[in-house]
Amino acid sequence: MSNYEKADSWSIKAQKEGYPARSVYKLQEIDKKFGLLPANPLQINEQYRVLDLGAAPGSWSLYVLRRLSGRGFLASCDLSPLSRRPDSGLFDGENFFFKQADIFAADTRATLTTLGPFSLILSDAAPPTSGGRLVDTARSAELAGAAVLYARSALKHGGNFCIKIFQGADTAAFIKETRPLFNSLKTFKPRACRASSFETYLVGLGFKTPR
Ligand SMILES: C[S@@+](CC[C@H](N)C(=O)[O-])C[C@H]1O[C@@H](n2cnc3c(N)ncnc32)[C@H](O)[C@@H]1O
Repeated sequence: MSNYEKADSWSIKAQKEGYPARSVYKLQEIDKKFGLLPANPLQINEQYRVLDLGAAPGSWSLYVLRRLSGRGFLASCDLSPLSRRPDSGLFDGENFFFKQADIFAADTRATLTTLGPFSLILSDAAPPTSGGRLVDTARSAELAGAAVLYARSALKHGGNFCIKIFQGADTAAFIKETRPLFNSLKTFKPRACRASSFETYLVGLGFKTPR
């Protein structure tokens, strides 16, 4: 099957399953492989809180809300609004908060961190692609750096972390700097990533609270 056929089949599957974007299958594969969220729904209680940065149109948020099954809490943030069409009312629940804002802004960080501490921080945030790889990887590295700042201030000891990064010249240094914060930090490229894309995901398990 060609890459385009695969992309189409993922989009069709997403539509059938009520997700606004095919990117949900990247998170699903990472979750299945690394156990980002507890496999046993009974381990999810009201203290289980998740932060989703760069959340629009909302597939990852919807996936998390479905996995939470009415327990726990999800806070999401994006410059753009979420797509309300396929949410089946989950975005109206009391265990969900959405802020339409810039994750770099100090007031956004203040609002979101007070909603923690979080058991899981996700960031699929990506800059609008300019076509210039150097510019795009530099902007993606800034977004990844912002996600690490959220982790430093609001991720629980033992918490998990999964962020997108466009691979560039500084990625290795960024990973080296971030690795000591977790018991394990791995890069992983899910099958649903387009082969031509230079995005990858960093998966950190077991956050070590700075002493
Ligand atoms: C690939 S999309 C996320 C897709 C999402 N995970 C889903 O499954 O629906 C990347 C998102 O990052 C957001 N983004 C980029 N820079 C941002 C910033 N500074 N603050 C908030 N969101 C940002 C974009 O608006 C865009 O919606």
